[in-house]
Amino acid sequence: MACSTMTLKAFLFSFILMCLWKSSFEQEIFNPLAYEAEGDGVTDDSQALVDAWDSACEHHAPAIFLIPENTTFLSGPASFEGPCRVTPTVQIRGTLKAIDSLSAFHDPGWIEFKHLDDLHIDGGGTFDGQGSRSWSHACSYCKKLPMSLRLLKVSNTTVSNLTFVDSKGFHISVQMSSSINVNRLNITAPGNSPNTDGIHISESNDVKISDLHISTGDDCISIGQGATDVHIENIICGPGHGISIGSLGKYENESDVSGVHVRNCSISDTTNGVRIKTWPGSPPSQAFNFTFQDIVMDNVSNPIIIDQQYCPDAKCVAPPSQVKISNVTYNRIRGTSNEQVAVSLLCSQSVPCENVILQDINLTMASNITSNATLSTCSNVVNGSAVGTQTPDPCLTKV
Ligand SMILES: *[C@@H]1O[C@H](CO)[C@@H](O)[C@H](O)[C@H]1NC(C)=O
Ligand SMILES: *[C@@H]1O[C@H](CO)[C@@H](O)[C@H](O)[C@H]1NC(C)=O
Ligand SMILES: *[C@@H]1O[C@H](CO)[C@@H](O)[C@H](O)[C@H]1NC(C)=O
Ligand SMILES: *[C@@H]1O[C@H](CO)[C@@H](O)[C@H](O)[C@H]1NC(C)=O
Ligand SMILES: *[C@@H]1O[C@H](CO)[C@@H](O)[C@H](O)[C@H]1NC(C)=O
Ligand SMILES: *[C@@H]1O[C@H](CO)[C@@H](O)[C@H](O)[C@H]1NC(C)=O
Ligand SMILES: *[C@@H]1O[C@H](CO)[C@@H](O)[C@H](O)[C@H]1NC(C)=O
Ligand SMILES: *[C@@H]1O[C@H](CO)[C@@H](O)[C@H](O)[C@H]1NC(C)=O
Ligand SMILES: *[C@@H]1O[C@H](CO)[C@@H](O)[C@H](O)[C@H]1NC(C)=O
Ligand SMILES: *[C@@H]1O[C@H](CO)[C@@H](O)[C@H](O)[C@H]1NC(C)=O
Ligand SMILES: *[C@@H]1O[C@H](CO)[C@@H](O)[C@H](O)[C@H]1NC(C)=O
Ligand SMILES: *[C@@H]1O[C@H](CO)[C@@H](O)[C@H](O)[C@H]1NC(C)=O
Repeated sequence: MACSTMTLKAFLFSFILMCLWKSSFEQEIFNPLAYEAEGDGVTDDSQALVDAWDSACEHHAPAIFLIPENTTFLSGPASFEGPCRVTPTVQIRGTLKAIDSLSAFHDPGWIEFKHLDDLHIDGGGTFDGQGSRSWSHACSYCKKLPMSLRLLKVSNTTVSNLTFVDSKGFHISVQMSSSINVNRLNITAPGNSPNTDGIHISESNDVKISDLHISTGDDCISIGQGATDVHIENIICGPGHGISIGSLGKYENESDVSGVHVRNCSISDTTNGVRIKTWPGSPPSQAFNFTFQDIVMDNVSNPIIIDQQYCPDAKCVAPPSQVKISNVTYNRIRGTSNEQVAVSLLCSQSVPCENVILQDINLTMASNITSNATLSTCSNVVNGSAVGTQTPDPCLTKV
């Protein structure tokens, strides 16, 4: 009798222990379909998405915010905000599709994650920005079109294994954030879609971007003011406008940009390769410690370019840029240019570029007509040097 009671108690005790053990390891799933989403790609599911996120965010234990496979959620602007009790893992396996009418959008972002630490977004799914109807509205004086994924004030964050198509504005924007890792993404929009940058980084520190395929109508990657310690590698870019630092110096009080390192990238059929651009007449700031290495260009219009007279829309008669560019190294850049000037370092008259190094450059004409050799042109570069093999003949002092 006593013996069997003991056995029963022991059994119950271990059963309870097992349940506790199990619940602490099985993550609860928050799926918008359980929050009145239709998931049919036609009904506006914005509210259900935010409701599911809010519940996941308030959950006391690690949870999964899931966009399930084979499901399309149509959504207007949706903001997933923290801080959370425990930041949920975000698994996007299905498709998020933006409402196509621009009038639904007031914020700079479409899908926005903000104020979060330790955020992980992956799952193999798709962000479809449905931008084609809005692109005719894009111009530099019009309001900025919504970015498909906006990360604002996030830290220790990974975005991985996803597809982005046809954003209205930028595909991804990272702002006021730190320790960000973006990898294994495919980003695609037509070559003539305006302002559809692949990834834009500003006011952020410690950002790693790797293993992306980007075809778009603007910069594959653009690095704006206040970006520091940015590592970009294994990128396949084109068509598009290449990989750019800038444009810088458009506004007052911009923060410096430093420590941008780009390596092992392949850039094809783009209007620029690796570019640094600053507006004329800009207020003072600094841009320094950049390396570009192991880059292969194929049919690129301006493979290596510093443009301190960047002025896409108007005739610039403004005074020279005051963005000081220094410590820039181009190392092992090869391939083809479809314009004769393959290396163009046009620096500011008032604050010349300092310490620019061209090392092992081999840029030939894209066409197989051999009579036109490529050229390089420099202005206002001090302490520049050319090292190793050089095609075109360098405009910097050979050492
Ligand atoms: C999604 O659709 C594919 C193809 O129709 C099918 O093989 C797969 O099992 C579906 N997945 C789920 C979770 O329904
Ligand atoms: C990407 O996500 C899909 C779907 O969840 C998964 O099957 C695949 O293993 C993931 N790939 C990588 C490289 O993580
Ligand atoms: C990022 O993670 C590190 C290590 O876990 C932690 O020390 C740091 O506080 C986190 N950063 C932020 C801004 O929360
Ligand atoms: C991106 O495209 C490549 C090549 O087409 C493919 O191998 C990879 O799985 C794609 N990645 C995602 C996240 O869909
Ligand atoms: C360079 O990038 C390509 C394509 O993105 C990748 O397949 C390759 O592994 C990378 N090589 C190195 C040495 O990182
Ligand atoms: C720039 O900073 C100065 C000094 O802090 C401030 O007075 C000015 O309003 C700022 N300008 C802008 C456009 O923020
Ligand atoms: C070269 O790039 C230009 C765009 O700069 C594009 O129009 C042209 O089709 C490309 N040529 C080839 C052979 O792909
Ligand atoms: C810039 O590079 C120089 C030389 O490599 C280094 O001493 C300096 O600390 C770097 N500055 C920043 C802000 O990273
Ligand atoms: C540029 O590099 C040199 C050393 O190579 C370093 O002394 C200098 O501080 C760097 N400039 C900046 C602005 O970091
Ligand atoms: C430069 O590139 C051309 C065309 O790809 C090639 O034929 C040539 O050998 C290369 N030169 C050097 C010095 O690597
Ligand atoms: C240029 O390329 C075309 C097509 O690849 C080829 O037919 C032609 O012979 C080449 N011309 C020269 C001068 O190499
Ligand atoms: C050589 O370059 C000049 C100037 O860009 C251009 O006008 C001319 O047509 C080119 N010649 C050949 C044979 O491609």
